[in-house]
Amino acid sequence: MKLLTVFHRFLRSAFTKCTNRTSTKIGILTCLVFSLYVFVMYIPDFQKEITPLVHPFSKTLKFLRSNGAVHPDDLGVMEGMSHEEKLKAMFSLREGIHQIFNECLTSSKYDHCSSPQANNVINDQPILTLFTTWIYDEDKFFINNNTLYNWRKLSGVNLVVFTNDAKVKYYSKKAGWSVLPILTTVAGDAPVLKQMFHTVQQQFKTDFYGYSNGDLLFEEGLYKTLQKIACQMNETIRTKPILIVGKRTNIDAEILNSGVVSSGQKMQEYAMSFGNLFHADALDFFITNTVFPWQDFLPLAIGRRGYDNWVVSVARYHNSTVIDVTDSVLALHQTLRERGNFEGLNKPFNNYNLDMIASQDISIRYGLWGQTHCAEWQTWYDMCGRVTLTRRKNIKSDCFLKKTFFQRLFDFREPL
Ligand SMILES: *[C@@H]1O[C@H](CO)[C@@H](O)[C@H](O)[C@H]1NC(C)=O
Ligand SMILES: *[C@@H]1O[C@H](CO)[C@@H](O)[C@H](O)[C@H]1NC(C)=O
Ligand SMILES: *[C@@H]1O[C@H](CO)[C@@H](O)[C@H](O)[C@H]1NC(C)=O
Repeated sequence: MKLLTVFHRFLRSAFTKCTNRTSTKIGILTCLVFSLYVFVMYIPDFQKEITPLVHPFSKTLKFLRSNGAVHPDDLGVMEGMSHEEKLKAMFSLREGIHQIFNECLTSSKYDHCSSPQANNVINDQPILTLFTTWIYDEDKFFINNNTLYNWRKLSGVNLVVFTNDAKVKYYSKKAGWSVLPILTTVAGDAPVLKQMFHTVQQQFKTDFYGYSNGDLLFEEGLYKTLQKIACQMNETIRTKPILIVGKRTNIDAEILNSGVVSSGQKMQEYAMSFGNLFHADALDFFITNTVFPWQDFLPLAIGRRGYDNWVVSVARYHNSTVIDVTDSVLALHQTLRERGNFEGLNKPFNNYNLDMIASQDISIRYGLWGQTHCAEWQTWYDMCGRVTLTRRKNIKSDCFLKKTFFQRLFDFREPL
């Protein structure tokens, strides 16, 4: 009440004092009208709860999850369309779903290749020699132990651990792994990536050879994806270098029990509910074929910064076939709560690789070139749940950035 009186007096005085100045009156009136407008527009918005932006795709999903039993209007999934457009869209959607349905029913037999005979090629022979190396650490052992038994459940793999440590050797053998010695260490205690690839390629005969950190968990997506690649790229695989990489999904190691790590489906569920997809420039596994030219790569240390991006960027630079399998291979990274996801950054001689790379005269910005989404190819699950391998249509421009003249001049080190 008081406020209103004051306001009223102010108005009256303003008008009486400037009564002969029309322009001022008009000015004040305009101001008032404008304020009123803002007030009216603002208040309803202010009172409304802020609704998060809903992506159109998630509305469509809502419709599909209802098995099409709820009218799209009632879900608000066709807002802004005319009635005629809605009818046409519904018709087209119905046709599309029928087509997918038929496709899945008739061709699921040829899961991995488009040709029927290709399935005969697939037999019980291991397709992948998968190796790792880890350090015995009492607090972290349960994580490595999960990995030991999780990988054992994978189809078509030879498993190898590189170690000189008696405990690592003991537990790995007990879990049925092959154990090989580390012949050279650099940067404190780190093995050399390319050397390990060389060693396993001499000892095992498989289509693919892969290194992975010893704290990742995989499920059947890995095998299915490799089969798909082997089949679709049956010519390339013998003649051209292939590099397969993917992002990892971080998850708190403490919430995983043996029931989860031994079941691919549970792992998927946990990943969806509690996991977080990690950065595109932090790669924890690399899979290559027999003709991949590891001999031409720098002798970089495992687990020190930079080696991951370097491998991917150089492979891309030399036009190798690089495949991002993030969408079909779940790589669950068990994060130790008290050490977090950047544990790897606190190792001794952490700049060992960065320094070696800096001494190279190369024009590409390898930190950017080496991201997973820069891969020319990608694998993903189609609507029938089959792994599909396709060429990426859009690759971000930062995947092709070269150093500027000044960056080259001053030995620019990538800010990784
Ligand atoms: C390692 O994991 C296996 C399988 O879950 C389990 O049977 C075994 O007891 C574990 N070993 C140790 C030392 O915790
Ligand atoms: C390779 O795959 C293509 C189809 O993807 C097939 O036509 C061809 O016969 C295969 N070649 C070999 C050697 O398996
Ligand atoms: C890779 O391919 C591009 C485009 O086809 C070509 O310009 C480049 O010279 C190739 N690089 C190598 C190392 O072969």
